[in-house]
Amino acid sequence: MKTLGIVGGGQLGRMMAEAAQKIGVETVVLDPTPGCPASAFARQVVGDFKDYETVKAFAKEADVLTFEIESANAEALSELSESGYPVHPSPHTLSIIRDKLAQKKFLTENGIAVAPFLEVNSKEDAEQAGQVLGYPFVLKARSGGYDGKGNSTVHSSEDIATAFEKLGGGHLYAEKFVPFEKELAVVAVRSEEGEIRTYPTVETVHENHICVLVRMPALVPEPARQKAEAIAEKVLGALHGVGVISIEMFLSGGEILVNEIAPRVHNSGHITQDACATSQFENHVRAVMGMSLGDVAMTVRAGVMANILGTRNGESVGVQVEGISGVALHLYEKKDVRVGRKMGHINAVADTQEEAEKNALLLLSRVII
Ligand SMILES: Nc1ncnc2c1ncn2[C@@H]1O[C@H](COP(=O)(O)OP(=O)(O)O)[C@@H](O)[C@H]1O
Ligand SMILES: [Mg+2]
Repeated sequence: MKTLGIVGGGQLGRMMAEAAQKIGVETVVLDPTPGCPASAFARQVVGDFKDYETVKAFAKEADVLTFEIESANAEALSELSESGYPVHPSPHTLSIIRDKLAQKKFLTENGIAVAPFLEVNSKEDAEQAGQVLGYPFVLKARSGGYDGKGNSTVHSSEDIATAFEKLGGGHLYAEKFVPFEKELAVVAVRSEEGEIRTYPTVETVHENHICVLVRMPALVPEPARQKAEAIAEKVLGALHGVGVISIEMFLSGGEILVNEIAPRVHNSGHITQDACATSQFENHVRAVMGMSLGDVAMTVRAGVMANILGTRNGESVGVQVEGISGVALHLYEKKDVRVGRKMGHINAVADTQEEAEKNALLLLSRVII
């Protein structure tokens, strides 16, 4: 049996390793923090994944490489991939996705609708964007952003200087503000043979740019759900990659626009662990290991995921809560808690969305992290 190497040992690596263990796939994980979340299910190599030599040496410990983060040493991954070593997602796919501007251009070239956008390299460019796109618009860093950290909404030209300060200036792009009704997401997976499966469309609810709640299926008309899944299929078809890809979208005036693609398992897909026949983590492992894909259908009528976010800074405490039937608690065993840090999540399943959401929030109120 081949060994799967996972670069990055946070919660995503942890849940991949957990799913791999379930289907008998051995994993080894590379992370700089000893006792990282993934080390509960995988052998850990302690090391810096941004370092060329470390990544090259780590590859020798495994037969296939995948990752939970987009910032691993690109040169090492490219060399490995060019020499025929299986790296998923491929450095080529990553190069398209990592740069959000390149990503938007790629989507447009492939006939996938996105909000109008413009490259911004200077404050003058940003002024120009305001003229072309109108106010407000969103100024975004081309790479490295997450949980809204790489975004700034510009309401008038007076906001431009502050936005540049927040984003550290440099390589940016501007995007028309989308007055969306809902945010949707679709997690999809592509096998080595090119088979594509899409999970049911979910609705994501964000607070302060951080995802707090996910509903599966999304509470939108059936045609919108189908359209979102068709868009996801088209994106995966265009990317040619192997493994899970997640697509965030806006539903605005009945239209669906792609917001961004993540080249990996995603927070919007955590609900698949308890609401679908095969979780996104298992399907990712299956795909990158060259196995056939598992069923993505729901096994319940409704599922709701609630993120457990840190509300203070310090050492995290052990959690003992009274369980609720149909509700699963997934904790990441992070030693330190910080405000807004993802510490775990709750998946609730039920016959109705109302029931699932009520139970998810009830358990959330009992968790002290
Ligand atoms: N063009 C836009 N119009 C309106 N809201 C936006 C736009 N772009 C992003 N947002 C809001 O900001 C959130 C985070 O932006 P996103 O580009 O997905 O960055 P991140 O990498 O931080 O997830 C989105 O989920 C959405 O709520
Ligand atoms: Mg996002």
